Amino acid sequence: MNFTLSEEHIMIRNAAREFAKTELLPGVIERDNKQEFPEELVKKMANLGFMGIMVDPKYGGSGMDTISYVLIMEELSKIDASASVMVSVNNSLVCYGLEAYGTEEQKQKYLTKLASGQSIGAFCLSEPEAGSDATSQKTTAIDKGDHYLLNGTKNWITNGGRSDIYLVIAQTDKEKGHKGINAFIVEKGMEGFHIGPKEDKLGIRGSDTHTLQFNDVKVPKGNRIGEDGFGFKFAMKTLSGGRIGIAAQALGIASGAYELALKYSKERKAFGTEIANHQAIAFKLADMYTDIEASRMLVMKAAWDKDQGNNYDKSSAMAKLHASDTAMKHTVEAVQIHGGNGFVKEYHVERLMRDAKITQIYEGTSEIQKIVISRSVLRD
Ligand code: CAA
Repeated sequence: MNFTLSEEHIMIRNAAREFAKTELLPGVIERDNKQEFPEELVKKMANLGFMGIMVDPKYGGSGMDTISYVLIMEELSKIDASASVMVSVNNSLVCYGLEAYGTEEQKQKYLTKLASGQSIGAFCLSEPEAGSDATSQKTTAIDKGDHYLLNGTKNWITNGGRSDIYLVIAQTDKEKGHKGINAFIVEKGMEGFHIGPKEDKLGIRGSDTHTLQFNDVKVPKGNRIGEDGFGFKFAMKTLSGGRIGIAAQALGIASGAYELALKYSKERKAFGTEIANHQAIAFKLADMYTDIEASRMLVMKAAWDKDQGNNYDKSSAMAKLHASDTAMKHTVEAVQIHGGNGFVKEYHVERLMRDAKITQIYEGTSEIQKIVISRSVLRD
């Protein structure tokens, strides 16, 4: 085991940290208030190679490893989880899905644009009646010879209004259950594809979340990903990597809140001394630090498993479960340490607390992660 980051990893982490402080921080409260997508910042992140972190440079990516990806995700998420979820979905659900399972033609046509940041991607699995129970897809794609006819509704789609390329999961043969599900590449502007209104959310308010409607959208046969019936496994395999990204996001939210709480507790005085000198506060900091370090180990282990070519279904689920619970618990504590100031937007911790909640929900709720982990430990 080696717990030391390489020089290259430290450089990458520092570059992301610097970017987050100088570029994401200045407008983060305003974007949260206005629910504003960080349009200009996406271009800057693309210039830094953050939109296709793990993609092979021959497809326009940065060719970095998963450890680099989680380091970048943590640093961005300390400041702006709305920007980081956009990065995460583009990288680990859309780019990875296409690079691992797309045809060469699909990679040339779509992945190159997504990895270089010319296009943004969305991953469309959830539906009004198929969230955790992802096999119950109501969206249908009927085989019409040279194309599929796509009909249905997708919910809570990250980057939903702002994407150019959408990976859409749909039922092609109901009789076959999960084996009758396929994944398709849908382009913005295809006839019959409508983007619904933007969701007004508790947290990650700067991220662009929409309902999508497909009414007789003609999707060319060449836009199906993988063999007929591969769609559910495609979603599951892709989400395993996505969960590493969200775990790193949760880690960043928790560590961002911890760093603010630590600083505040060394400055704020009560009863004649800095509040950090009161055991009630010092013990909170000790618990936060310990849980965050434990989450970091799980996140790194999951990323390392992926880089080593090991199965990472269980390790990514454990990382997401632990890191998201840590983020929720300790952002609440960070607000508590800040007292009245914690309830005020300019101190940032209330936003981190609101942003933390979604990490226990999207890309598989905490309860779904427990299904994945328990099935794995009972099987092994
Ligand atoms: N890799 C490969 N295959 C997998 C797999 C994996 N990780 N997980 C399951 N499968 C396969 C199984 O082996 C099985 O195949 P066989 O029949 O050939 O053996 C098939 O898929 C069905 O698996 P299950 O019987 O386990 O399916 P299930 O109905 O019990 O569901 C589940 C399993 C884990 C609960 C799954 O439905 C799930 O993960 N649900 C959560 C969905 C989710 O994460 N949604 C998030 C939406 S995306 C999002 O949030 C993006 C965003 O914008 C931020």
